[in-house]
Amino acid sequence: MKASHAIPIDSRWIDLASAIRERPGVRTVYVIGAPDRGKSVLCRYLAGALSRESPAAYVDCDPGQSSIGPPGTIGMQGLGPAGVPAGRPLLYFIGSTSPRGHTLACMSGVKRLAGKADALGYKIIIIDSSGFVLSRAAQEFQYHLIDLLEPDVLAAIQRGNELEALLGNFAVHPGITIHRIPVSPAVAVRTQRQRRRHRQSLFRAYFRDAFAQDLDISGMGMHGMTPAAAGPLSYRSLLTAMCDPENLAVVLGITVSFHPEKERLSLFAPSFHHHDAASIQFGSLYLDLNEYSERTS
Ligand SMILES: Nc1ncnc2c1ncn2[C@@H]1O[C@H](COP(=O)(O)OP(=O)(O)OP(=O)(O)O)[C@@H](O)[C@H]1O
Ligand SMILES: [Mg+2]
Repeated sequence: MKASHAIPIDSRWIDLASAIRERPGVRTVYVIGAPDRGKSVLCRYLAGALSRESPAAYVDCDPGQSSIGPPGTIGMQGLGPAGVPAGRPLLYFIGSTSPRGHTLACMSGVKRLAGKADALGYKIIIIDSSGFVLSRAAQEFQYHLIDLLEPDVLAAIQRGNELEALLGNFAVHPGITIHRIPVSPAVAVRTQRQRRRHRQSLFRAYFRDAFAQDLDISGMGMHGMTPAAAGPLSYRSLLTAMCDPENLAVVLGITVSFHPEKERLSLFAPSFHHHDAASIQFGSLYLDLNEYSERTS
């Protein structure tokens, strides 16, 4: 999580943090908003403020501009207070950099990460939604995600009343309190091009020390958005995750070659403990191997 030191604290953030503290039993806070509404800045403030009093976890649901793991993943990070192990971030592979076409993975991933945070003893779980919110498909996705998570607090950052149609479904929910926050005029908007470049630089940083690794995949589970015309070449360049026994991502890689009949996978990935991997999850995004290294040929 990046620091938000340059941004002045908004009085509405303080009001929300106070409301969370004052309501007994609040465990989960879901912050929802379209792209560029100030969701992440608010989440960082809440996580920072609330973690001073009790162990807090931050869940980032955006596979496109992830602040915890590489693009294509969503993540959970534990925060203080001191004495409670912060732990390494947990990652869940979505398969692509957008929830579009991967809504099931997003839904189960957010639920899994929030559940892990709860099981690990974090008392407050701040969930930063992706900006996949406004289209009809996105609203339906958000409806089901909120229904599944049942957050104690639903903090909605909106321009005008753009979220009201969705929020109406939870207006009289017995367990959910809605807080509405208008968008700050100071929020900076990022263009699609800026987002793409940011994603590329995150991938480049992630694969900086990657190399092609020959893996014995005998006995491993396998799933994901496998190419329709399956053949060794159709897997080349596919963004792929090796997952642990709980199906959390151990490492992301780019498939160099896949030979199920020989039980071998060659994966261009950062160094990882091969013994940690129990399954392979193929994504749907192709990345240019040459762009990330010359060491794969
Ligand atoms: N209250 C604020 N005052 C000043 N700048 C802000 C404020 N809120 C957000 N920003 C700035 O606006 C930009 C977008 O904010 P943020 O990343 O929190 O939005 P977001 O809704 O999470 O966007 P995304 O859809 O990309 O996840 C950032 O550069 C952030 O620093
Ligand atoms: Mg954000």
